Amino acid sequence: MSILHFVYVILLVLVAACFQPSHVLAAAQFEDTASPSSYLNNSPCPNAEDIAPCVCTYWDVYHSLDIDCMSIEDEQQLYDVFHANIPDPNFRRLDLGTDNLKTLTDTVFGDVTFETVWTHSTGFYGILTSVGPETFMKSAPTLRELYMPYNNLSNFPFQSLSQYTELTDFVLHDNPVSNFPIIQSENLRYIDLGAATFDIIPTGALDGLPNLEEFDVSSTTSIHSMAA
Ligand SMILES: *[C@@H]1O[C@H](CO)[C@@H](O)[C@H](O)[C@H]1NC(C)=O
Repeated sequence: MSILHFVYVILLVLVAACFQPSHVLAAAQFEDTASPSSYLNNSPCPNAEDIAPCVCTYWDVYHSLDIDCMSIEDEQQLYDVFHANIPDPNFRRLDLGTDNLKTLTDTVFGDVTFETVWTHSTGFYGILTSVGPETFMKSAPTLRELYMPYNNLSNFPFQSLSQYTELTDFVLHDNPVSNFPIIQSENLRYIDLGAATFDIIPTGALDGLPNLEEFDVSSTTSIHSMAA
């Protein structure tokens, strides 16, 4: 390992160390301000055993449902969870563990919708390698934030992003995205493709993004050509 590589790895570890606790803290603060009521008889959560190992939380003050699928074991299990009896299919947040998930098929989430989707891995990188063009399409009118950092996505159905009418934040940093994606979206404000592997940003690449405020391509291997 060259000294540069070594320094790079140390930097990545530092960045990871700074990055993770702030989100843990954010979650903890959120939980302090309200009490979840997933145990209530009138909770719109599915039966706990129908969706195990995922866990549903109902926040009655917000009238919103979150689902935590951090411990999901494989694709079939995820499919079964979202095709169980789900009385209210409109979730606010999905947290999805990608230690054991390689693929998110078009049909995996059934009729369930989300506003925020986060993937997580317990190691540094999850193994998620493919997302279908329709995977989140039921959420096209609701999805605001899609965060899938630290995975193995060399490609993503970027062209489908134009159909997500509420999507403002799209984060794919630390994925081996090999071609600069041409994205069309009226709403996207924040895109993060940091540490991707493309080396050319084509002319007009940002033309389809009228509301873009920030496009992060930091630590992308080496960008040779850049067009404003
Ligand atoms: C990452 O994706 C590539 C294909 O793009 C695949 O060959 C490789 O096996 C994947 N790695 C893991 C850890 O899944």
